[in-house]
Amino acid sequence: VRWVAELRRADLGAAGIAAAIEARILDGRLPPGEQLPPVRKLALDLSVSATTAASAYQQLRRRGLVVGDGRRGTMVGQASPVVPVYAPVVPAGVRNLADSNPDPVLLPSLTSLAGRLDVPVTLYGARSEVPALVQLVEAWFGADGITGDQVVLVSGGMDGIERVLRAHLRPGDAVVMEDPGYAVLREQLQTMGLRVLPVPVDDEGLLPEPLERALQAGARAVVSTPRAQNPFGCQLTNGRARGLRHVVLNYPSVVLIEDDHGAGLAVPPMASMAAGHSGPWAVVRSPAKLIGPDLRIAFVTGDRVTTTRVRSGFLLGPGWVSNLLQLAALGALREASATQLEARVAGCYAERRMALLDALRSRGVTAFGRSGFNVWLPVPDESAMVTHLLTHGWAVAAGQRFRFAAPPAIRITTARLAAAEAEDLAGLIAATMRPAAAVRHA
Ligand SMILES: Cc1ncc(COP(=O)(O)O)c(C=O)c1O
Repeated sequence: VRWVAELRRADLGAAGIAAAIEARILDGRLPPGEQLPPVRKLALDLSVSATTAASAYQQLRRRGLVVGDGRRGTMVGQASPVVPVYAPVVPAGVRNLADSNPDPVLLPSLTSLAGRLDVPVTLYGARSEVPALVQLVEAWFGADGITGDQVVLVSGGMDGIERVLRAHLRPGDAVVMEDPGYAVLREQLQTMGLRVLPVPVDDEGLLPEPLERALQAGARAVVSTPRAQNPFGCQLTNGRARGLRHVVLNYPSVVLIEDDHGAGLAVPPMASMAAGHSGPWAVVRSPAKLIGPDLRIAFVTGDRVTTTRVRSGFLLGPGWVSNLLQLAALGALREASATQLEARVAGCYAERRMALLDALRSRGVTAFGRSGFNVWLPVPDESAMVTHLLTHGWAVAAGQRFRFAAPPAIRITTARLAAAEAEDLAGLIAATMRPAAAVRHA
């Protein structure tokens, strides 16, 4: 193989071999699915020890670049190794129901907010958190019955989740995520070298028995979405939360993480399975859907060890969240609370989601979505449905990136879908799902 010959000349150690293979994966010379030589053969060809060759593969596996093991063979992973920024290409004139974005009309204006901000000059060593913001967030969590040791500010929900995972897990550890679940989380876990153990969901969240099996199989952490689950739209009920807490009672060292990205997408209060767990836990609340994704701020609460580790990590990295952002978030959240924005916006999204679900149901088509603005619609053939809808002017997301064992489906974001449009779309979908009439050939 040519690349092996190139590497032979370079006289590399394990890290060097891994980096050289990584470079070839990144520029496409080693495409997804490409089989790599067995450890022994690679070692022989490069005149290195089998330990060195195995260690190179191990490093690539941890970064999610290759899959498989030495015995069954190693190959380049299917997931893109490049940061997976997912922006579906939507042709002009096509309605975009594929991107899971909030309706910009429902977000507060940052321009008018910014004009009213009074931002102090802040230097190194100054207090890094705006106390009024921390107090507001503590009260916000408190209203949902969530009391942690402290509130830590981070740069968005996914940043918070990554920091909690890094605080407790090592590459190779297994993490439970929902099936279907948030594609970006899946890619994040893979990139961190964590193993994904998918657990199915229904309208109420993770299913307790499959969760128990995943914990028995050695899962070290569980990431779940208490409301507006993406893409299935589950909403954790108090009953399910109790059932899940009962299951994790026997696994006190497992890390429970709740991805609460859904403020503003579901009428409060929020049920929690993580809060009060006897082991490590965190609820990561992102206000992105309520006050806009661009503020890049989120709030982590949890037990003392978890929150302290996350706080220390953040201090050593970014240092603190800019006072400009903190004050903007404080202003927007105060305004939201004064106008009951959270419940109002959630009600608005519920109407749009229900309009589509009802329109589908009245045509005999089953779809899911109990909270948030996404509708999950099982279909026999994802790409056929996506393509068909596209030719009729609707862009929706294929379910593939979101699911593991869950059957094929599409995700439709109804955040900006008017009721009349929902009827048109449902009619089109129902017509497509109907079994084709038998055609008699002459
Ligand atoms: C389930 C889920 N988690 C997290 C996020 C992102 O949160 P943030 O923008 O705060 O990182 C999203 C965004 O759509 C999401 O759907």
